[in-house]
This record gives sequence, structure tokens and C-alpha cells, in this order.
Amino acid sequence: MLFNEDATPPVLDLPPAIPELTSEEFRLFQGLVLAESGINLGTKSRALLVNRLWKRLRALELASFSSYYRLVKRDPAEMVRMLDCICTNETRFFREPATFDCLRERVFPEWMAAADAQQRSKTLRVWSAACSTGEEPYSLAMMLLTAFPASAGWTIDVLATDLSTKVLAQASRSVWPLERMAAVPIEHRSRFLLKGFGPDKGKIKATDELRSVVRFQRLNLTQAEYDVFGPFDLIFCRNVIIYFQWDTKLKVIDHLGRHLAPNGYLFLGHAESLHGVTDRLESVKPKFFRTGEERAGHSGLCILERRNRQTAL
Ligand SMILES: C[S@@+](CC[C@H](N)C(=O)[O-])C[C@H]1O[C@@H](n2cnc3c(N)ncnc32)[C@H](O)[C@@H]1O
Repeated sequence: MLFNEDATPPVLDLPPAIPELTSEEFRLFQGLVLAESGINLGTKSRALLVNRLWKRLRALELASFSSYYRLVKRDPAEMVRMLDCICTNETRFFREPATFDCLRERVFPEWMAAADAQQRSKTLRVWSAACSTGEEPYSLAMMLLTAFPASAGWTIDVLATDLSTKVLAQASRSVWPLERMAAVPIEHRSRFLLKGFGPDKGKIKATDELRSVVRFQRLNLTQAEYDVFGPFDLIFCRNVIIYFQWDTKLKVIDHLGRHLAPNGYLFLGHAESLHGVTDRLESVKPKFFRTGEERAGHSGLCILERRNRQTAL
């Protein structure tokens, strides 16, 4: 006999099946995500949506995406969690290094010369407008603290904002896996990063000096007003507008431009060219820099510079 028919079949501990996401449910979530975050989920994002929201359905023991949709619509806290799941948070210290070369070689000398000529104050306000887990604002803070020391009278203020509460919580803990340190230039490592030991082995943490100049705040770039204290000498808004529709990109750039100080700079990600925007935005001057030493994949920068405060964007 091959099978013992009297035996009780073993109970398999299988995970519950992932419910199907119907076309109508996908359309509902597409509309909701677009309205709440500006993120444009194209038709190819169906699998992504399922992968990212399925965890919430399982945690809440919901049997369908429609039930989850209804919950999100009536529960603001779940809306925040849903957006946390949807956001792509990939980031690195000193990501797109040509950007940081440009700061050191062009922008910083301008600020120093202006301060020497008493044409600007020695307070620098910088905003990382989609900061993810903090590597970007802390990279900026390392460079700023090094180039503009308090001993020479400089004050540094880095605002770091993001839509996702999950990444903001991680960013304000300022603890990362040790491997992330590889992207940090050697000259910054010993001053600004502490290596964990004991239970924290394999982790790095920002020093108090570094943490003291960065503050975090939740901010949705697609909201009507930005509750921030500016104006800013420099705004980084990198690798986020790529997820937005064209008209949303324009609105966000326009809005950020209003928070730039005269001669302030707005840096976008390398993949975020804004051909055509400049015809509409008179006071923002686009530039395309090439570093002398071309780095594979890092040769172009998309930088917008505000020339004067008087011209409305
Ligand atoms: C790919 S990460 C980019 C992080 C960093 N700027 C960089 O370039 O390494 C994109 C970030 O944008 C955030 N984000 C998405 N939509 C947003 C919105 N409407 N307002 C603010 N942040 C948003 C996401 O939560 C995510 O952390």
C-alpha cells in the first residue's frame, strides 16, 4: 500500500494566498496614490503595488484589496502606512558624486567669496527635500561642516524632509549598516561616523556633531504650501520628481523655487532633466555641468539657479 488512508493528513502551515488585484482595484489605488503623493503608478506597476501592499493586508487580516482600500480611505494613519509601503526609498551617501564635486568646486567658493565681500551672511540653510533614510542630508552636512567651520563664524542648518514617516524615523535614528560607509569619503569617516560594537557591531551611527545640524520633518512635496523656514541657499530634490506626472513636476519645481534664496541652487537627480520647464520659469536658470574627469553614469548634473528674488517664478 502506498498511502495510509486512515492517517490524518498533515496540516501544512502555508502562508495565506495573495488575493488577486482586480483592474478596478488597481485603478482605485492608482488614483489614490496619485492624489495623495503625486506618485504616478503606471500600468506596469501592478505587481509592485501587490508586492508592497500585501504585507498590510496580511497584517490586518483583510481578504481583498478593496477592503484595504476602504480602510485606507477612512483611516488617516493607515493612509500614511500605505504611502510608506508605496514609496521607493533607495539612496546612498554621496549618491551621484559629481553633484558633490560641483558643490565643492563651484557653489562653496561662491558662498565663501560672497561672505568675504560681506554680500551674504555666514548662516547656510540647506534643504534635502526627499531625504529618504538620511544619507543625502548627512552627506551634505559632512561637507558643509568641513568647508564652513563654526570656528570661522559659520552656522549650518540642514532641513531634511520626506513623505514617508518610516524613512524619517530611520533617518532621525541615524544608524545604518556598516557597508554604507564605503561611499563616504575617507576624510569624513572618522570625524562624522561612529562604528558600533557589541550588539551594534556591523552598524554605523552619525556623531552628535553631525546630528546637531540636521533636523527632520514630514513634508509632502505635492501639498499646496510648504511649512518650512527658509529661504534656502541650496535645495536638493533628487530622484523623486521622476515618479511624478509632468504637471506635478512643474508645480513642485515652481514651489521649491519660491523657497530659494537669491542666487540659491536647486539640484535635481541626474535622470531628472527638465527640458521645457525653463520656458515657463523665468527666474530659474538651468545649467548643465560636466565635470572635468567624467565618471561613468555621473557626467551630467541638472541644476537650477535662482538669479534674483524679485522675478516671480
Ligand atoms: C528614491 S528616494 C531618493 C532619496 C534621495 N533624494 C536620493 O536621491 O538618494 C525618493 C524619496 O522620495 C520620497 N517621496 C516620494 N513622494 C514624495 C512626496 N510627494 N513628497 C515628499 N517625498 C516624497 C520617498 O519617500 C523616498 O524617500
